[in-house]
Amino acid sequence: MENPDLQHSATPLWWQTGVIYQIYPRSFQDTNSDGVGDLAGVIQRLDYLSALGVDAIWLSPFYRSPMADFGYDISDHIDVDPLFGDLTTFDRLLAEAHQREIRVIVDYVPNHTSDQHPWFIESRSARNSEKRDWYIWRDARPDGGPPNNWLSLFGGSAWEWDPHTGQYYLHTFLKEQPDLNWRNTLVQNAMFDVARFWLDRGVDGFRIDVAAAIMKDPELRDNPVNPEPRRSRFGTEWDQYLHIHSYRHPEIHGIYRDFRRLLDSYGSERPRMSIGEVDYEDMEKWIRYYGESLDELHMPFGFHLLHARWQSDNVRRIVDTVEGNLPEGAWPNWVLGNHDEPRIATRVGLRQARVAMMLLLTLRGTPTIYYGDELGMQNVHIPSEQARDPWGKNVAELGRDAERTPMQWDAGPNAGFCPSGSAPWLPIADDYKLRNVAAELENPRSLLCLTRELTRTRRSSPALQLGGYRSIDASADCFAYIRQVEDQTLLVLLNFANGARPISLPHLGSGRLLVSTELDSRGPVDLSSIELRPNEGWLVQI
Ligand code: GLC
Repeated sequence: MENPDLQHSATPLWWQTGVIYQIYPRSFQDTNSDGVGDLAGVIQRLDYLSALGVDAIWLSPFYRSPMADFGYDISDHIDVDPLFGDLTTFDRLLAEAHQREIRVIVDYVPNHTSDQHPWFIESRSARNSEKRDWYIWRDARPDGGPPNNWLSLFGGSAWEWDPHTGQYYLHTFLKEQPDLNWRNTLVQNAMFDVARFWLDRGVDGFRIDVAAAIMKDPELRDNPVNPEPRRSRFGTEWDQYLHIHSYRHPEIHGIYRDFRRLLDSYGSERPRMSIGEVDYEDMEKWIRYYGESLDELHMPFGFHLLHARWQSDNVRRIVDTVEGNLPEGAWPNWVLGNHDEPRIATRVGLRQARVAMMLLLTLRGTPTIYYGDELGMQNVHIPSEQARDPWGKNVAELGRDAERTPMQWDAGPNAGFCPSGSAPWLPIADDYKLRNVAAELENPRSLLCLTRELTRTRRSSPALQLGGYRSIDASADCFAYIRQVEDQTLLVLLNFANGARPISLPHLGSGRLLVSTELDSRGPVDLSSIELRPNEGWLVQI
């Protein structure tokens, strides 16, 4: 099949062809019986990840931290929190992962530190502290109120009064997470040194936390009122404003160009990468993070499907829009879950979770799998007295504990997450006896086996790894697309409905079914007359 508008990249890099797997270290594997996962636990499970067929792991923060926001409040960027292990264990993790050809991406949190970080302790010690300007300090308004109307995402004003020095400091998140002042070049240098520290140790890349927030309006002007607050996501006071002055000041791009130069300076033999957490609602602004000459982030995260209405035409529209807007050469990526969002299996249902996995692993671009999504782990109801997430303690519905519960390894005590007799930091899902790695490995049609089948197929398929993407009309409720390189053409058919759907694509002739999400059939198919079962997806070679 010839189609000139299907393009592919000639020099693929590991982060383009690979599958990323996100590990939330607290919840993956506890080896020292404190109920919290640790780096030794990740090492213990590397063989599992190898067999799962992932090419890179992204570790959420494991740095020294008072844990007000579970590690996203860092008090020492260049050490491991004792809860998770130490630098020696990290080095061992890196070496063992690399031995298995698994790359390691670590979290980089540039926007803020912990209020316990020595930089902030120094900064708040006096108005004339040499580090005063490392954070964003301002006088009160004449009425004593905060300097402007900016809000903290986690609730309330983004300004905290410091009685000792008589000024406010800015915190986009918790008051325990003061924002760094990236306009100060000493801060830039210090944070670039943090990146160098991990690059020198051998990490393969960074996931950049709230990447769009680090540069604010230099005049700190009030944010304007949002004319359409009801169309916003959170249902809190946050929705009442357009956060245009507190986020995404255009000067941010200069910083990411410098950051890219830093990554590139590590050479092309083992290329390092960056993937940034950037809001995606405004396509034009999202794309800018690739850089005008593709010289900024390797990828801004592709969150476009995270909150999408789960209907075939809507998902198709979103994928087509992203594909249609990406600048030439910009590499896409897709995410269906992370530690801040409801589990995909809860959002779309367990049966559609299989279709979602096929979608994620067959779209063009780098997929990120959130730990446990390969099992169909679901949101776990956490009673309010057991809530741990500070956001959830503030606004119950926005709590993120539900998607951070311990990985379900087996049907034994604590699902194999922590040794018997220890208490996991969050409750384990009720369904763990049925839904766990051991049980799913024994069931040849489990979601885990489907995920493994898809990563295996993807690895051996140039069309899936590098091919162009083009959606086609198939049938109501079905999203269909073609992935193609010169000598391989694959067709993906995804039935979003809970009923069977006939499909007729006579112009595509006949093909060979490589993977059905039901994992019970393969072989020749006549594309002029097929029927997808309810919630079924097909990957077909044509
Ligand atoms: C990012 C993280 C989130 C954290 C926040 C503040 O959005 O993903 O978990 O709470 O940044 O660091």
